[in-house]
Amino acid sequence: MRLASPDRRNQPPMLRRSYSYDENGDTGMIFSCFQRNIAHGFEAVQKRLAGEALANYTLTTGGGYFFVPPAGDAWLDALISA
Ligand code: HEM
Repeated sequence: MRLASPDRRNQPPMLRRSYSYDENGDTGMIFSCFQRNIAHGFEAVQKRLAGEALANYTLTTGGGYFFVPPAGDAWLDALISA
């Protein structure tokens, strides 16, 4: 926890939500998080956690970034004109 968030007064700018699952013995955890800036959120924390001792007991089998556009069409216009 302290590796993930070294300064309690300045926590990583992300919201986390995990889902444990057990489907007939296929067990695991889906880690999900939400942030405005991936470099400042997930990636900054993940770099600090790289190589930590408990990582020996985990196996990452997949992952992805999903982008949630804001309401309205302005983001679409900006994307097309870029
Ligand atoms: C096997 C995967 C993981 C497990 C079992 C796990 C477990 C935990 C637990 C038990 C806590 C403390 C309770 C809480 O604040 O929810 C915690 C905190 C935290 N974790 Fe994880 N975690 C995992 C993966 C990750 C990943 C992939 C990230 C981000 C890259 C992450 C980021 C954080 C952060 C930012 C905190 C908050 C620390 C604080 O509030 O001081 N964790 N984690």
